[in-house]
Amino acid sequence: MPDSITITDNRSGQSMEIPIRDGGVSAGEWSKLLPGIWFYDPGFLSTAPCESAITYLDGDAGVLRYRGYPIEQLAEQSTFLEVAYLLLFGELPDPAQFTAWTDEITHHTFIHENVRKRFLEGFHYDAHPMGMLVSAVAALSTFYLDAKEIHDPVSRHRQIVRLIAKMPTLAAAAHRFSVGMPFVYPDNSLGYPENFLSMMWKIAEPRYEADPALARALDVLFILHADHEQNCSTTALRTVASAHADPYSAAAAACAALYGPRHGGANEAVIRMLTEIGSFDQVDDFVAAVKAGHGRLQGFGHRVYKSYDPRAKIIKRAADQVFAVTGKNPLLDIALKLEEVALSDEYFLSRRLYPNVDFYSGLIYQAMGFPIEMFPVLFAIPRTAGWMAHWVELLDQDTKIARPRQLYVGAGERDYVGIAGRPASPKAPPQR
Ligand code: CMC
Repeated sequence: MPDSITITDNRSGQSMEIPIRDGGVSAGEWSKLLPGIWFYDPGFLSTAPCESAITYLDGDAGVLRYRGYPIEQLAEQSTFLEVAYLLLFGELPDPAQFTAWTDEITHHTFIHENVRKRFLEGFHYDAHPMGMLVSAVAALSTFYLDAKEIHDPVSRHRQIVRLIAKMPTLAAAAHRFSVGMPFVYPDNSLGYPENFLSMMWKIAEPRYEADPALARALDVLFILHADHEQNCSTTALRTVASAHADPYSAAAAACAALYGPRHGGANEAVIRMLTEIGSFDQVDDFVAAVKAGHGRLQGFGHRVYKSYDPRAKIIKRAADQVFAVTGKNPLLDIALKLEEVALSDEYFLSRRLYPNVDFYSGLIYQAMGFPIEMFPVLFAIPRTAGWMAHWVELLDQDTKIARPRQLYVGAGERDYVGIAGRPASPKAPPQR
């Protein structure tokens, strides 16, 4: 049987055979038969805007691989910096490459004093740290003017290193400002997660020593969040980068998308939901309310995973290791009960709604002492590696500017009427 589809334009009777390649059919071929007829696909449910060799996802089987390596093996045996290298350069580093890479990242952790003093400290006292991060990442483009040289491989590499190195510093600075604590400079004798924890929590001690189990758990969470193919924030990054904007502006757009509660803000929403549920015996009523259309079960469901998110399984195990150090998060019992109730309920089963990566990650972050507002920020730190891998891939593929079409459903042509001659309009903006 040929690996192709045949389409027929019933208006003209013309047909065309289009090959199926790598699981897709070319819209360019389609347009040859049907010029001016667009694919109507809100939310890109059936659209692949690119080819990518970075991350493989099988949502039915619950499979996730970075550059071919199963996420379970990477979470068990690798480190975030090694995974970042893998995502960016396609192969695991050899020992010399890894030493050089770690050294580069470590020596770019400092941020310009003006970013902190003049920019971050200019925010309102109760600014959300993710809002601060979105702006700070965009502001970096004004500090590194060479970032515009996107076709120069040396400049590209420099910006990638800067972004991955500086994200924890910006993230911790946003937190310290929001709680009125003095900024902590990076300690370049520490590893990536240890340094971040030092910038978050250090008070007066000469050197902050993170608990190794907590530093490792954070590193595992960073690995799990490092990439997830064409998710909303990566799509935002690719769209902006396709216009050849500098990588800081593109990464800021990605951060802004990640801020939303349907995406990276979901871990924050999960904790708020569990807190609202309040007790074990309220779970059934809460699930009933969701089924009746009152809100959603946060941390449940996924556009691609139609079985258990493999990251959620790993996070559930990591949670035990964290709780052994911090003590159990009291919300855990509510979360477990919620999962049990949902996974035995026809509503969730028939829609194939399972816990996603955000269902348990917030519980770990909260047990480690991170304020809820920091959760999306914790997601953005590692996802920067994935965003940058997609940025390089897009530029290497010389991708066209993202510019979809629309199906126009508005008014037909009509003549302008002066204000004095207009009748009262039934349409008005909402009133206070
Ligand atoms: N709780 C209750 N019902 C849900 C949920 C949920 N969390 N998610 C989807 N549904 C229902 C939805 O009401 C719809 O039902 P019906 O067919 O009767 O109208 C059906 O399932 C399909 O939902 P959808 O909105 O068409 O699915 P989608 O692929 O467009 O949305 C999603 C995916 C992740 C936005 C959605 O599942 C959701 O809002 N989940 C809660 C937020 C969340 O946990 N987000 C994190 C996603 S994973 C990490 C990340 O991407 O950052």
